[in-house]
Amino acid sequence: MTPDLFADQPIETTTEALAEGAFVLRHFASAADEDLLREIGQITAAAPLRHMKTPGGHSMSVAMSCCGHWGWVTDARGYRYQAEDPCSGDPWPEMPPIFAELARSAALAAGYPDFTPDACLINRYEPGAKMGLHQDKNERDLSQPIVSVSLGLPQTFQFGDMTRSERPRNIPLGHGDVVVWGGPSRLRYHGVLTLKHGAHPLTGACRYNLTFRSAR
Ligand code: SIN
Ligand code: FE2
Repeated sequence: MTPDLFADQPIETTTEALAEGAFVLRHFASAADEDLLREIGQITAAAPLRHMKTPGGHSMSVAMSCCGHWGWVTDARGYRYQAEDPCSGDPWPEMPPIFAELARSAALAAGYPDFTPDACLINRYEPGAKMGLHQDKNERDLSQPIVSVSLGLPQTFQFGDMTRSERPRNIPLGHGDVVVWGGPSRLRYHGVLTLKHGAHPLTGACRYNLTFRSAR
């Protein structure tokens, strides 16, 4: 047996500034990865991942679920937060304490000490899935940041400006990376490019993204 010399070494986290008030915290979630994925499994057993329809009637390529007090939904009536899962009529699963702790500590590390997320979207991308450029603007209090956690396969994040027409930066995101954007960057356009095929030891052929918001 070969002892793993690095098994107990902490994973180094580094911070990259993207714009004023926006940062990538590399590997910030890595140490919690297995616990986060276990919680994702439990949440999505109760509130299954589903491909929601945009108000225009298109099925989204990303499969979504939610936890926390509010869940983000889209259908023919539009985009909104609501307290019940439309599939079951039940309240969304509670936000696990490790989710809230991770989101708060990432926000703090990015200079947002008062973040109290009440909504967490769970996105699952399979090869071919993507998310076009959009702004996160359904939240009531835009003084609170967005905290976005990547797990599993790498995917290219796009981070733009305040208008869709400005060319976004492409930022590769890997397992455990966390992006935080708020303040003057809170309404920047963002999205992810098409997920490429691959296999991750913990997630298999997919990437999970958790986005924490203070919705209401
Ligand atoms: C989102 O904007 O809701 C998701 C972004 C991502 O998957 O990294
Ligand atoms: Fe978003």
